[in-house]
Amino acid sequence: MQDRAEQLGDKVVYQIYVRSFNDSNGDGIGDLKGITERLDYFKRLGVDYLWITPFFVSPQNDNGYDVANYREVDPMFGTMDDFGELSREARTRGIGLMLDMVFNHTSTSHQWFQKALTGDPKYLAYYKFVDAAPGATADNPGKPPTNWVSKFGGNAWEYVPSLNKWYLHLFDVSQADLNWDNPEVRAELVDVVKFWKAKGVSGFRFDVVNLISKPAVLEDDDEGDGRRFYTDGPHVHEYLQELVRESGIDGMVTVGEMSSTSIENCIRYSAPQYHELSQTFSFHHLKVDYLNGDKWALQEPDIPALRSLLRDWQEQMTAGGGWNALFWSNHDQPRPNSRFGDCSTKESWRRSSELLATCTHLMRGTPYIYQGEELGMTNPDYTSISQYRDVESLNYYQILQDEGKTPEEAFHTVAERSRDDGRTPVQWDDTPNAGFTSGIPWIGIPANHVTINAKAEVGDSDSVWSFYHRLIGLRKSMPVIQRGGVRFLSVANDKAVAYERTLEGADPARVVVVCNFSGNETCALGAGSVGGAHALLANSDDWRVEDDGSLILGPWTAVALAW
Ligand code: GLC
Ligand code: CA
Repeated sequence: MQDRAEQLGDKVVYQIYVRSFNDSNGDGIGDLKGITERLDYFKRLGVDYLWITPFFVSPQNDNGYDVANYREVDPMFGTMDDFGELSREARTRGIGLMLDMVFNHTSTSHQWFQKALTGDPKYLAYYKFVDAAPGATADNPGKPPTNWVSKFGGNAWEYVPSLNKWYLHLFDVSQADLNWDNPEVRAELVDVVKFWKAKGVSGFRFDVVNLISKPAVLEDDDEGDGRRFYTDGPHVHEYLQELVRESGIDGMVTVGEMSSTSIENCIRYSAPQYHELSQTFSFHHLKVDYLNGDKWALQEPDIPALRSLLRDWQEQMTAGGGWNALFWSNHDQPRPNSRFGDCSTKESWRRSSELLATCTHLMRGTPYIYQGEELGMTNPDYTSISQYRDVESLNYYQILQDEGKTPEEAFHTVAERSRDDGRTPVQWDDTPNAGFTSGIPWIGIPANHVTINAKAEVGDSDSVWSFYHRLIGLRKSMPVIQRGGVRFLSVANDKAVAYERTLEGADPARVVVVCNFSGNETCALGAGSVGGAHALLANSDDWRVEDDGSLILGPWTAVALAW
């Protein structure tokens, strides 16, 4: 059996959030043709796969993660012919497509759910329906089956008066959880994967796929929001193995989005001998700025906690034969440079954007670049809640005020944490709509597109874009990055993160990556650490090795040293 490093070690994935990528027809919404128009951009950047977020028929209550028909392209994004053209044109450039399968839930507009609503027992059994108490009414439905909280706020159960039943929705009320314990549901989903596989895609991303298996007994959670009952649930590995086996995708590039998961489970999800997926996204490292684990309570990023999470996931996944997706950002996250770096001056913005990239790209695993990240795109400078679009942000703007926050405080928190921070249109150039659309963009364009944009950066060897290009080149050319072991190093300062990659017999055989997550000059590695090394890459000249072999890094400086 091929290990993951052999299969994936030299690969880099680029994530496209379709509605914000590139609009080909002036309706203000990105589309499939818009992606095809930009394929040479990816070729030039050097990525291998494009993960394309859902473009299937959907009422768009959660921007396409509420799928109403898994087999059709939403007219908003184009046609099946557009998809065929994208797929062919990508293939001629040696780029593979990964499609996003949203299988934990469907939209309540999906015909399965619509049939369930008529009382059809076959389709009632497709979802997690639970009888309400006799005599329940729309005005007074009684207590929901459990106290579980939806990820978008509020109780996770919705009452349907015509059925006198509740259904489970871990996300929006219009996203009903599927009943994976029903073999017919699992067979339907296998067919969906086969349908897209037959169209020649290279792989898949599976949305919140570690939430698919719910417990047989539904009970209140008196310690938390319910997630401990359904996260990495009782049959999740069995169901994933079946899906992969029956749809024939073992060995393809597949990644599972794993919510609040554990290393132990992610080894099983991603190590080849379990025949589940080929890599996992986990999110613990993106919670180090959540106060007490609460996304809606702000704190400064806890860098020591970040360092130990990265260490545990790198070292323990490797020991277990698992494989990490390496990332800071996606369409659900604020921009990482705004969050973990400092975008207040041009130099600190550039350095912190490049530091974050250095930190993940040279680790063991598969780097993911989220659209615009390679340009150093930042959170937008929105000033009013009316500029936000996301259901979660709008819900929490209200919930935070219900909990006693002032509108200003609630706005400040939403501005820091909104998923829309990462959903602003890709900044292609400095024209008023950033080259994204000739119409009115569905969400506002940050003012800084006049300086942060692809047109300015692609040809400039000192740009963030060119730095990403170099990082990809390093991975492509160095076996130690592709396949080497990984070990975290003890640092001389709390704001530093350092690790080494080693591969016997390779040239170089040892690479040490050191990042200063602060705006101060820092002694990152103590005496005797880095003598005799040469620099592979650095995001500034602002660093030095002292005579005693210690390493001093300037503000937001990252270096990779080799022996
Ligand atoms: C995943 C998606 C997110 C979506 C949620 C529900 O976390 O990335 O955008 O809202 O699943 O499908
Ligand atoms: Ca469009």
